[in-house]
Amino acid sequence: MADLSRPTGPVIRPRRLRQSVAMRRLVAETRLDPAELVLPVFVREGIDEPVAISAMPGVVQHTLDSLVAAAVEAAEVGIGGIMLFGVPATKDAMGSGADDPEGILNVALRAVADAVGDRLVVMADLCLDEFTDHGHCGVLDAAGRVDNDATLERYAAMGLAQARAGAHVLGLSGMMDGQVAFVRAALDAEGLIDTVILAYAAKYTSGLYGPFREAVQSSLVGDRATYQQDPGNATEALRELELDIAEGADIVMVKPAMPHLDIVAAAAAVSTVPVAAYQISGEYLMIEAASANGWIDRDRAMMESLLGIRRAGAQIILTYYAIDAARLLRPDA
Ligand code: PBG
Repeated sequence: MADLSRPTGPVIRPRRLRQSVAMRRLVAETRLDPAELVLPVFVREGIDEPVAISAMPGVVQHTLDSLVAAAVEAAEVGIGGIMLFGVPATKDAMGSGADDPEGILNVALRAVADAVGDRLVVMADLCLDEFTDHGHCGVLDAAGRVDNDATLERYAAMGLAQARAGAHVLGLSGMMDGQVAFVRAALDAEGLIDTVILAYAAKYTSGLYGPFREAVQSSLVGDRATYQQDPGNATEALRELELDIAEGADIVMVKPAMPHLDIVAAAAAVSTVPVAAYQISGEYLMIEAASANGWIDRDRAMMESLLGIRRAGAQIILTYYAIDAARLLRPDA
């Protein structure tokens, strides 16, 4: 008989459930699955060899051929999707390359959609910044301001071109008011009722987009503060989310992910459609730069960052680590 009068230390011992790999695996509350990861990729017009992006070690601007190979690899490792960004050879004020069926992004969408079939969800960035010579996400008015409603017309044309090129999902990342409803109506009017809209509902203006701007050779001077959200605002993010869902968004996204995990959690709590989060270029860069210096363990930091985004409530994660993470999750794939 145990002597119950003897102090035995804590009765409740949470460490019991952490004592072995098997026990920890049994009680894990959050798991990552390759199927929920989406790989963002860049395809550049007029190059013969992939071009490295200095601020994003391991990420390149693809040729059409290397892009198709990357998409096939993505399908083989079992990730959920691929998000294409185009880098045109020439840019102009209206971003004409965006809705040109022979523009690089649309040509690439066709090639990738043909190559992967139903094995991978093919997504297209729907925004003008890669295509405009001023680098803004929309067209400008006479005073040089981003003209919301004129931009919607451009987005509709771009969306039609992308859907016709074979994109399964359009990623509306421009943060123009009314963009989801406008693009949805344009698609439906043309019978493109199955094209999915992923709305960047809460997209914050951020210092962490820097490497991406190199990746798409952005000519932006200044910032996007008149259309992307102020990092301090949370209620406003819920308003954007509500609007996008009401306008017909099929999936909503929060971006960047790590500085805004509270917004991911808040969105997941109220959203009636799947919530995605985008681990952006600067988030990737921070892990890469620190691990390149030997300061952190890259793979651990990578998996922990993805797990945290998942735990916050994102069902889908866009990450430059999609393939590497999938390989760690499924070593035999
Ligand atoms: C807009 C767009 C951007 C990113 C995704 N879509 C750039 C921006 O808003 O400035 C950033 C992605 C990243 O930094 O990884 N086309």
